[in-house]
Amino acid sequence: MTRSVTVRVPAKVNAQLAVGAPRPDGFHGLANVFLAVGLYDEVTVTPADGLTVTCSGPDAAQVPLDTTNLAARAAMALAGRYGLAPDVHLHIAKDIPVAGGMAGGSADGAAALLACDALWSTGASREELLALCAELGSDVPFSLVGGAALGVGRGERLTPIEVGGSFHWVFAVADGGLSTPAVYGEFDRLTTGTDVPEPTASAPLLAALRAGDTTALADALSNDLQAAALSLRPSLADTLAAGTAAGALAALVSGSGPTTAFLVADEESARKVAEALITSGTCRTARAAVSPAPGATIQRP
Ligand code: C5P
Repeated sequence: MTRSVTVRVPAKVNAQLAVGAPRPDGFHGLANVFLAVGLYDEVTVTPADGLTVTCSGPDAAQVPLDTTNLAARAAMALAGRYGLAPDVHLHIAKDIPVAGGMAGGSADGAAALLACDALWSTGASREELLALCAELGSDVPFSLVGGAALGVGRGERLTPIEVGGSFHWVFAVADGGLSTPAVYGEFDRLTTGTDVPEPTASAPLLAALRAGDTTALADALSNDLQAAALSLRPSLADTLAAGTAAGALAALVSGSGPTTAFLVADEESARKVAEALITSGTCRTARAAVSPAPGATIQRP
């Protein structure tokens, strides 16, 4: 019998994305408040003759199946570290919208790493896995840990955050993506000649999360990349306005976009806002989800 390992992994939203000036290495210092949200991909690894990737789900056609896929790169990175051959078939059952801003690619990287680690019994420590995640991308460590965390450095150095309740969100999925480097580049262009402050976590935001207070969280959400994302994709302003008009307590671009996130009062409001966004014609689709959600988890049959 061929053994397989399946890992379930969540999407994320940034409750705060404070961006500093570009560093000498080209990355930007961040204070990144990540919340994992309950939309999940599942990555299954099965021993095979070589490394192959398949994907299923409504957005599967948009997922690269070559070695640019972070799941494939994760398998190669872990195999390389332990002197193994990355001879696995990776299947991604994709439910996280493919558009950008929800860390779907990073999620698959973290899931593949955890699944291959279990399949190969490498004995890697949690710290080693997190370090490999950080090499794969700035958001990948958070996909592994989930929950809620503050990410500093380029977003990869994580501290868990206490969350005192559940928050309801709606995500509007845009047509087409936005390049993350292009959005950071636009941020640099828009802030040229200004004094970009050191990024720091917002005390009111952390207090709202700790208290589980949706109204206070709505007032405290912020994304320093929003102006840059709107500059490159002005139509996102129509999506934000449609969600606000439908009763969302707050609307913001998720990460570097183009996905937009709407904080809502409860499940009933989430249903209404999602329906209104879909009928507004300002997005491809809309999905409701609750945060926080657990990180990458091995699924037991
Ligand atoms: O780390 P990741 O591969 O996700 O980063 C993609 C791109 O986003 C980087 O090449 C860089 O242009 C930009 N980025 C940045 N500062 C960060 C994270 C990402 O400038 N903290």
